[in-house]
Amino acid sequence: MRLVLFTGKGGVGKTTVAAATAATVAARGHKVLLVSTDTAHSLGDVLGTPLHDAPAEVDTGLAAMQIDPQARFERAWADARRYLVELLGRGGLAAVAAEELMVLPGVAELLALDSVQEQAAGGRYDAVVVDCAPSAETLRLLGLPRVLEWYLERAAPAHRRVVRGLGPLLGGLPMPGDAVVAAVSRLHGSLLGVQELLAAPGTTVRLVLTPESLVLAEARRTATALALFGHRLDAVVVNRMIPGGQDPWRAAQAGAQAARLADVEASFPGVPIHTAAYRPGEPLGVPALGELGHELYGAADPLAAAAPEAPQVRRVADDHYELALPLPHVDREAVDLARSGDELVLTVAGHRRLLALPGVLRRCRVERAELTDGRLVMTFRPDPALWPGRR
Ligand SMILES: Nc1ncnc2c1ncn2[C@@H]1O[C@H](COP(=O)(O)OP(=O)(O)OP(=O)(O)O)[C@@H](O)[C@H]1O
Ligand SMILES: [Mg+2]
Repeated sequence: MRLVLFTGKGGVGKTTVAAATAATVAARGHKVLLVSTDTAHSLGDVLGTPLHDAPAEVDTGLAAMQIDPQARFERAWADARRYLVELLGRGGLAAVAAEELMVLPGVAELLALDSVQEQAAGGRYDAVVVDCAPSAETLRLLGLPRVLEWYLERAAPAHRRVVRGLGPLLGGLPMPGDAVVAAVSRLHGSLLGVQELLAAPGTTVRLVLTPESLVLAEARRTATALALFGHRLDAVVVNRMIPGGQDPWRAAQAGAQAARLADVEASFPGVPIHTAAYRPGEPLGVPALGELGHELYGAADPLAAAAPEAPQVRRVADDHYELALPLPHVDREAVDLARSGDELVLTVAGHRRLLALPGVLRRCRVERAELTDGRLVMTFRPDPALWPGRR
């Protein structure tokens, strides 16, 4: 199954392009579910039909739904929430910070993805297209499962038995009731499911942008963070290109945009770039969206995914290895690397990823890290202390 997530800066056309993509996939004979987690309900406006919390057919092969992440979250986790907040507080998190963690829009969206996962698991659809929140929130969302799992495993083990074992650490906090334990187990299960869904080979992310330098700058930063978290960017959509014309304003706009398009192409080598013109009217309703989709993808498969580029370990010589990770658009100074046990802690421009080291590298030391051609290449040598007989 294909899962395609659309993100990008606010207002660039994410909802429109996600809907156009889904409409085109459906028109070409596939079954597709289009999902929005945006509480502003703009997907319903774009399709011209009210949407609900369950999939409804809006055209042949095209179903759509509108998830209200916050409402779902409140419903599902009301029991566990107060307890978790207190528990996280014991773990050293200030009460306010813990409360914030529990109401973070990202957490709710993550659980919305859990309902996407439920729908996907039903096997009714060939593809699911998700209209995500603007870039920053989406990044937090995509980076979150790992972080939350870390918290849950330490602060709120799924089984009461384990919690009992922690009794002394709870310092007088009452044992969680059955409802709390069940809710936490469900939350944990959901996070694992979402993590699996995001890491699945059929899952990709697409960036929507308009041909403007500020928008491109944000798209490049988003691409860096996506790569850091191991998400696959499989297409870039440049939306609202102003067609050239006789009058000086249009000619100047079109000229500037053509230069930005060249920058986009240079910024995302190897990633397919689809473009759409700024239409005289808003593309609303399935027929107009289908036209936009046709303009974007032409004869190409709208679901085509670029080849995956995963971290790769290479044995360079008898005594050293290289681990290469795609990491575009970033300077070496913005990358911080630390070792924590069997994991590498990679921090890039405020985003942090824990990277579990493959077996052979656990007994090695990082000797060097270099950024070349949008890849971070780390050189490892056996650690004599951990690898007797080697230097
Ligand atoms: N190619 C296009 N030609 C003309 N109008 C467009 C085009 N693409 C999008 N629009 C219009 O631009 C506006 C913003 O589009 P849209 O709502 O899809 O953006 P968004 O990125 O989802 O915004 P938000 O960040 O608020 O969710 C809408 O009015 C939409 O109809
Ligand atoms: Mg939108």
